[in-house]
Amino acid sequence: MKRPKTLLFPLFILLGLQACRNEAPTMGGTDAPSMTREKPAPASGAERPAPKSGAGNFEALVADYESQDRVIWQKPGMVIALLGDLKGKTVADIGAGTGYFTFRMVPLADKVIGVDIDPRFIAFMDSIKVRLPNQYRDRFESRLAKPDDPMLKPLEADAVVIVNTYGYIENRVRYLQTLAKGVKPGGDLLIIDFKKNNLPIGPPDEYKVSLSEVERELAASGFEVAKVDRASLDYQYIILAKKK
Ligand SMILES: C[S@@+](CC[C@H](N)C(=O)[O-])C[C@H]1O[C@@H](n2cnc3c(N)ncnc32)[C@H](O)[C@@H]1O
Repeated sequence: MKRPKTLLFPLFILLGLQACRNEAPTMGGTDAPSMTREKPAPASGAERPAPKSGAGNFEALVADYESQDRVIWQKPGMVIALLGDLKGKTVADIGAGTGYFTFRMVPLADKVIGVDIDPRFIAFMDSIKVRLPNQYRDRFESRLAKPDDPMLKPLEADAVVIVNTYGYIENRVRYLQTLAKGVKPGGDLLIIDFKKNNLPIGPPDEYKVSLSEVERELAASGFEVAKVDRASLDYQYIILAKKK
């Protein structure tokens, strides 16, 4: 199977932005998270303020998520390869944003569900979908979710990825328990987020979820950690867990 045509993505971005300018509803004043999280949400706790960066900043968010140098530190090909052969599988990308990972997985999997709580990103991904080559178009589905529910159908997903989004989720153990209902037994959950170490990108340390915290939360919610990798990505840790 062919790898995604990454050169098409800048065009998709322009087209998606145009579509969002014309069609996408906003979140009614709710701010959307940026990768850099300039005024980020604390990692946990009920008092956690909404992540900042803003309704008016959608184009900046898209530019942030799709920045050209991201491929250097994010290594999307290496990350996706951790899920193994996706042929015949359904993958859910929780907090998909512009679909940075979603659309790279579409050519590889049977189906990829781009899940997000922000209707602007849903509209953005839908605008990309219509421009996908015919053979890939039906493999993608966007899904508007709730902050406390990824809205997966029972046992729908063989694999789930949560990249740069875990820290935005509140009541994470409860969230993971709900998520687990949508994942097949033995299914993969790949979580990638920023390491604590005063990095040049990502949120300030106090707003990050530590690797040990993620491990503890996974253990409390029906997932078994299969692999932890602190080394492959400069700024981020990788956790691969399996649904029990
Ligand atoms: C920093 S972006 C990451 C986007 C994408 N995963 C990437 O790596 O490019 C975080 C995304 O998570 C979404 N998000 C925040 N909280 C969420 C939740 N509880 N459920 C699903 N998506 C959420 C935001 O709307 C945003 O699109």
